[in-house]
Parts: sequence; C-alpha cells; structure tokens
Amino acid sequence: MCGIIGYAGKTEAVNVLLDGLERLEYRGYDSAGVAVVSPEGKLQVKKSKGRLAVLRDLLQESDSLVGSIGIGHTRWATHGEPNDKNAHPHVGQDGKIAVVHNGIIENYLEIKNYLIRKGVTFQSDTDTEVIVQLMEYYYKKYSNLMDAVYAVLNRIKGAYAMGILCSDYPEQMLAARKDAPLLIGYGEKENFIASDVTALLSHTRTVTYMEDDEVALITADSVQIYDSDRSPVEKEKHIIAWDVSAAEKGGYAHFMLKEIMEQPEAVRKTVSPRITDGKIVFEELKEAVELLQNITRIYIVACGSAYHVGMVGKYTLEKLLHIPVEACLASEFRYSEPILGESALVIVISQSGETLDSMAALREAKKKGSKVLSIVNVMGSSIARESDYVLYTWAGPEIAVATTKAYTTQMVLLIMLGVYFAKQLSRISEEEYDKIMVGLDSLPEKIKDVLKNIDNYQKTASRYFNHSSVFYIGRNVDYALGLEGSLKLKEISYIHSESYAAGELKHGTISLIEPGTLVVALATYAPLLEKTLSNVVEVKSRGAEVILMATEETAKTISSQSSELFVIPETHPVLQPVLGVIPLQLFAYYVALNRGCDIDKPRNLAKSVTVE
Ligand code: M6R
Repeated sequence: MCGIIGYAGKTEAVNVLLDGLERLEYRGYDSAGVAVVSPEGKLQVKKSKGRLAVLRDLLQESDSLVGSIGIGHTRWATHGEPNDKNAHPHVGQDGKIAVVHNGIIENYLEIKNYLIRKGVTFQSDTDTEVIVQLMEYYYKKYSNLMDAVYAVLNRIKGAYAMGILCSDYPEQMLAARKDAPLLIGYGEKENFIASDVTALLSHTRTVTYMEDDEVALITADSVQIYDSDRSPVEKEKHIIAWDVSAAEKGGYAHFMLKEIMEQPEAVRKTVSPRITDGKIVFEELKEAVELLQNITRIYIVACGSAYHVGMVGKYTLEKLLHIPVEACLASEFRYSEPILGESALVIVISQSGETLDSMAALREAKKKGSKVLSIVNVMGSSIARESDYVLYTWAGPEIAVATTKAYTTQMVLLIMLGVYFAKQLSRISEEEYDKIMVGLDSLPEKIKDVLKNIDNYQKTASRYFNHSSVFYIGRNVDYALGLEGSLKLKEISYIHSESYAAGELKHGTISLIEPGTLVVALATYAPLLEKTLSNVVEVKSRGAEVILMATEETAKTISSQSSELFVIPETHPVLQPVLGVIPLQLFAYYVALNRGCDIDKPRNLAKSVTVE
C-alpha cells in the first residue's frame, strides 16, 4: 500500500526522498510525489501518476527542489483514480501546508462539504486533501501549526500515518499516526520518518515506533513526541537487525527469486535459536505454559498466504494436540462471532505485522478475553506490539509482493509451536518428538536439495506457461499447499487458477476439466496417497495434463501416473509441507517470467494491506 518517507537534515532532501521512495516501491503504488521546503520558506511540490521514473524525469525537467527538509509518498489509489492531481503530497489552498497520508479518512465527505461551504476549493478526489485543507483552515484560525494539527486530529475519523510540512516552519516536519504504521529514524544531524523500516536502512537502523494518537515534531537536530494531550512522551529506541543488503536484489533478477533461494537460511535462523539440547525452547512463551492447560480450542487467524499457513496449522496442530483448531480468514473472523474467551487461544500470523484485517481480529480476540499469540516477521510492527506473546520469524526483509520465505518460516514456526505445546501437554511420545527434532535439524539442507532441482521447475514452467487455467488438487495438508501454489501462480502470472480438496472435485468442479486443462496434483501426504491418485486418474481420463508432486519414496511407485513429476525429499510427515511449497513457488515464478510479468510488483497488489 502507500509509502511515506520524510527527512529533516543537512543535505538535499530530494535525493533522500527519492532513495526512500525507491525502497518503498515494492509495497505497490500507482503514483508518487515529493514536497520540499527551502530555507526561505518556499514550499515546492512535484508529483505524478506512474512509476518513480516518471517523477524522476519530472524533477530533471524542472528546477531542482532546494531544501533539506521534505516529505515523499508512493500512492496506492483508494479514493480517486490514479492520476497526477490525486497523487500526494497534497497542498492546502493557501499553498502553505503539504501533507502525505497513508490510511483512509472515513468522515472526509462531511469535512469536505463543511470546508466547501467555507469557500475552500478542492483540487483532488482524495480523502487526504481534507486533512490539508482543514489544517490550513485551523492554521488561519490559530496561527500555530501544532494547534492546527491537533484540531485536525480531533476532527478526523479513520486511519492515518501522515507527514506534514509548513512553509512558515522551514526547519520542522510533523508526523502523526493512528492505526497505520509510522516510525521515526534517528541519524547524525538528520532525522527521518517512514511507513516502513526498509526505507531507512541505508541511513539508520535506530528507530522508534510511533503509537496511536502520537504527534512528532522533527528537526535535523531533535525529535520530540507528544501524546494526545500534548504531553511529551519518552520513547524507547530500537536497533533494527536487518542490514541494507538484505533489502537489495544481490544479483538476482527478482526479489522473489532471491527470497525463494534464501529459504534454507531463513528457516535455519528461525529454527536454531529455539533449540537447546535437542529440545524446542520458546523463551518468548515461558509465561504462556499455564495458560495452555485451560485452552480448549485454537483459532489461527490471518490473510492470504498467512491464512494458508494457518490451514496447514489446522491439520497439524489438531493432530498433535487433540483439540479443535480452526483456520480463519481475518477479514471474516470479527464479523462471524467466534467463540472467544479465556479458553480460546488466538494465533495471528502476519509477515508485515500491519495487515488491517488481522489487526482488527487481534483486537476483537483481546476484547473478548482471549490471549493472542502472533507469528510476525517485522519487529516492532503493530500486531507484534499488541499481542500477548510474539514469535518472530527471522526471515529478514521480504520485498517481493508474493511471499515465499516469510510463508515458509511462518509454517515452520507454527509446526514447532504445535510440537512444543504437545510436549508441554504430554500429548506426544518421546520417540515421535525426537523424530521431529531430527527432521527440524536437517530441514534447511533438505530445502537446499529441493532448490537444486530448479532447472526442472523452470523447464516445466516453460512447457505450461501458455495455459489459461490451472487447477491444484490435494488432500489434507496437500490441499492447504495447493491453495498457496494456486495463489502464487495467479498473483504473479495472472493465470486463472483454482485449488480444490481433491475429494471435492466430483461435487461440481470436475465439469471444468477438459482436454488440455492443467492439473497440479499434490500427493505428498502419504496416508491419503491412494485416494489422491484416484482423483488424478479421474482428471486424466477427462483429458487433463497432470503435474504430480510426490516424495522420493512414493515417486518410485507412482511415476507412471504422470510424465511431469516434482519430487521432494522425505522428511518427518509434519514437516513435509515445508518442502512441498518450494516447487510450487518456483513453478509460479518461472511461469510468470515466461509471460513477461512484473513479478515483484504484480498489478493491483500491495505488499502490506492496511485497508479493509
Ligand atoms: O503481511 P501479511 O502476512 O499479514 O499479509 C497477508 C497477505 O496479504 C499476504 O500473504 C498476501 O496474500 C501475499 N501477497 C501472498 O503472496
């Protein structure tokens, strides 16, 4: 979604802003812009529809923006089509104040009508413009920027992270946040704001996360944060472990490919710090053990791929713990009256830690008395901060919109959690536990083995990239994997794809199978192998072409079922889906590559979805 960068320092702001916006490109956007205030108090704005390259050209054609304080924005349109006038920054009618904003102002129409009655002329169709017009209106009234900012914040409803400049205050940048991420970065005689830490990594790794209703006043030499009553607040500073190279392509054609190849290391970093003397130890959960005794059900709540991890978790945790586990779409969860309370544990999974639906589900669960344990990749993100317990996936920054290494590490962590809980509750035998520990130990190496077959996935993709419709089928965890394989394919290659529990096909969908339809059949879940193979026979007899995925052992006996085989190494059955997803990621990647798609930034998609 939209990205914000802001700078107050001693060098030319426009360069820092463009660098920051480039690092935010991965979030998805359709227009971009910057505003800089000169030392004499001249507010200069450039913005345009399209990619950053268009903005760069515009900046080159015109006089350069002079000044060492500025704000920048990448916009992902919500209110008003993507065009030049709707791009941020927005400037008030008097040309004094500029604002960049992430989020949605829910009561913007009411405020807009009020201001129109007061004689304000609006330039754009956005909800954001009401912020800046209202701010100028109050600024005229109070002659004080801070007073105007607080008056606006008291009047608007909705979600916002914003950066504010005013030509009368050429050394200050203001920032405010509510229900949308915003952080402050500290440098040497320079300070920053950003909606995402990756925009800051090339300048600083020392940050503070702004909380809801806080306002920050930032200059090159100081940062002061105030709460909703305008009392100064002292904030903890955090040092981000990620370095700038982790957020760069490092020679790969795409971030997605780089992130797929990083999976052995990401999994190792996620697993090994949690193993001591051959046992899983979650330091983060020391106080949660008691709580476990009273848990009678678990909800795993997430969106998109993280939800698919939850589906694998449902099958796996239910088997390990013998208690009901439900995987829920976060966007449905809070509207479906789930049975919450002390006896329910809610596990929220999110790479970004900022997904609005997941955040809302978390709040609903806490409000109704359930404890929330989150699995999150971004340190200090909103979901991490509001959860009772947090387990971080140590995947490093994930830039490609299509998640890969975050998905795999989420899955490993969720399985480890299930095994850990099972041990605490004495629901797993020593022997089984030890076998899983052996499996965990060798998992990074086995992922490397899957990656060695990259040429095979590439070749298969080049044979099938022209298909217009692809079905994924599987049973149990293979069904969950199929959902993820299908999502990966459709989001980056734009091929229509469906995923079905293999047993469901006969209940309607098989009517869509015709000669030449491609079916990816997942048969890694050994207990239901025969049944899945029957479904393969059914689709083949209707003319489908089949790619079959199986483990090394089963592949020996079923290779006659299909000429296209994806073979993955054996591991402990609870860990098998971690290996199973990798061929599906690579197949989707190479199909999209063959089709010439914008793999890292697929159309209409955003990395972190912070609107409902
Ligand atoms: O940041 P989150 O994990 O909460 O994001 C959830 C989904 O938006 C995300 O997994 C999405 O489905 C990805 N584009 C899938 O590749």
